[in-house]
Amino acid sequence: MHIAVLQNQPHIGAVDANLAAVQSAVEDVAFDLLVLPELFATGYFFHDQSQVRRLGEQVPDGLTTRFLMELAATKKALVCGGLVEREGDRFYNSAVLVGPEGFIGCYRKLHLFYEEKLWFAPGDRPLEVYDWGTARIGMMVCYDWRFPEVARVLALKGAQVLLHPTNLVQPYCQDAMITRCLENRVFAVTANRVGSDTKPDGSSLTFTGRSQVVSPRGEVLCRTNVDDETVLTVDIDPGEADDKLVTEHNHLLSDRRPEYYDPVTGKQL
Ligand code: ACM
Repeated sequence: MHIAVLQNQPHIGAVDANLAAVQSAVEDVAFDLLVLPELFATGYFFHDQSQVRRLGEQVPDGLTTRFLMELAATKKALVCGGLVEREGDRFYNSAVLVGPEGFIGCYRKLHLFYEEKLWFAPGDRPLEVYDWGTARIGMMVCYDWRFPEVARVLALKGAQVLLHPTNLVQPYCQDAMITRCLENRVFAVTANRVGSDTKPDGSSLTFTGRSQVVSPRGEVLCRTNVDDETVLTVDIDPGEADDKLVTEHNHLLSDRRPEYYDPVTGKQL
């Protein structure tokens, strides 16, 4: 499976220009699966709720999902990217997965980071795995990396490849994802952005780039740098993620002792 990871620098609120930039960045790139960053068409550091309302789109009928479906049809490939999802009066930080035949699924970010809590409702749907024939795919978004339960649940549901759109502002995730891959024996495709978003009051966030693909053995198969707008590609065999044997005596998933893990599934500390 030929994977592409796009690292971009969207301009806040400039959806048409941001989509056009993605279109031209992948024009001459062949892939079976493309992963784009979190909120790749809108920017991240929103000014106020009215801006979020203006940028919110229905899934799958909104502009961004339709753009992704057209791209998937043209490229005969899977495409995943993040957007502001609107459902009624609620807004979600979501990732969609689409294919050549259209919409496949939508994941609503479970763990909201920083000011996202002002604008978005937390995800309210189970983590899903989509069996595409050539790969079983799960989605997680950015800060979900801090919660190992997310990758674990996706692995337990059979995911071979974790698609991970991000807008990372701290430097830890890229290395932490190596551990997520090792502890679950899965591939992870982290698509991050670069540049800064600055609000009218002068406050700003700078994003950490270093988009990457990591193998089930924790190898970084490819990684971009901290500031380039670029597309990386790499070939993977998703079936490698089905080998959960760490030694001849150790199966990664059946070695677990969930009867001792009760606090992990409860809210009480
Ligand atoms: C993040 O979740 N965008 C840091």
